[in-house]
Amino acid sequence: MPSEALWSAVGAWYRSHGRDLPWRRTDDPYRIAVSEFMLQQTQVDRVVPLYLAFLKRFPSWKALAVAPQSEVVRAWKGLGYNMRALRLKKLAEGVMRDFGGQLPSDEASLLGLHGIGPYTARALRVFAFRQEALAPDTNLRRVLTRVFKGAKADPKAFDERAWSRWEATLPEKLSYDVNQGLMDLGATVCKAGRPRCEACPLRRLCASYPKILTMKTLPKQKAARKERTDALGIPNRIYRGRVIEALRKGPATDKALSGFAHVLSGLEKDGLIRKARGRWVLA
Ligand code: ADE
Repeated sequence: MPSEALWSAVGAWYRSHGRDLPWRRTDDPYRIAVSEFMLQQTQVDRVVPLYLAFLKRFPSWKALAVAPQSEVVRAWKGLGYNMRALRLKKLAEGVMRDFGGQLPSDEASLLGLHGIGPYTARALRVFAFRQEALAPDTNLRRVLTRVFKGAKADPKAFDERAWSRWEATLPEKLSYDVNQGLMDLGATVCKAGRPRCEACPLRRLCASYPKILTMKTLPKQKAARKERTDALGIPNRIYRGRVIEALRKGPATDKALSGFAHVLSGLEKDGLIRKARGRWVLA
């Protein structure tokens, strides 16, 4: 079971080794929410410059809520998975409409908002409101599974009861630093493929150490993702991204998009694109 010594070690490590990232220099819930949406499926290094540019263009919930959706999708360029831009915009509209422009801080209200699932609700409670919780992102799941359950335990099998028990031992004042620190530990030290235990502040308290260093294979964290593909095995996601990329520059005819016919109706149904005067445009 987790001890205060363990959480303190993570907190101290974060304060001396944590990465200096722009969303860690703000306590504005809007800016923190934007970072969480971008970080859901995009790597930190890629997110940083695009995040700063996005915030210049849309500095507040209000600016995002009133902007045309097509502009938000244009500003999402480089991040991929464009549905996230729509979800974030809908979230901004909900925060303006139902909460007077203030993101609520309680779990139930957060979960009731568009685009916020169990992970993001916890992340926002911790990072925007400094509450006591553990945000179960991929890195935290892997690190905590290794530390508490040992090197053979499967980080895919999310054990909500164990997670709640771990959360309950987390001192409130350490919650922010522990969550940020565990994300960084997972990204830089306790990596999926080859953990660098020699650099880890939790080594002495870790159920996987030192056994994990001599194991030939480690449990796989990612389930093989079932993606829709074309006959060549190229995922629809790639074609969808190309269509949005083309339409960021301007309208296009069916003929110009003929190699992408199989993804157009899906994009239309998702509300990302529409037909205007016979040509496809960003919705
Ligand atoms: N991924 C999700 N939230 C993050 C954060 N605050 N820092 C680094 N990576 C993250």
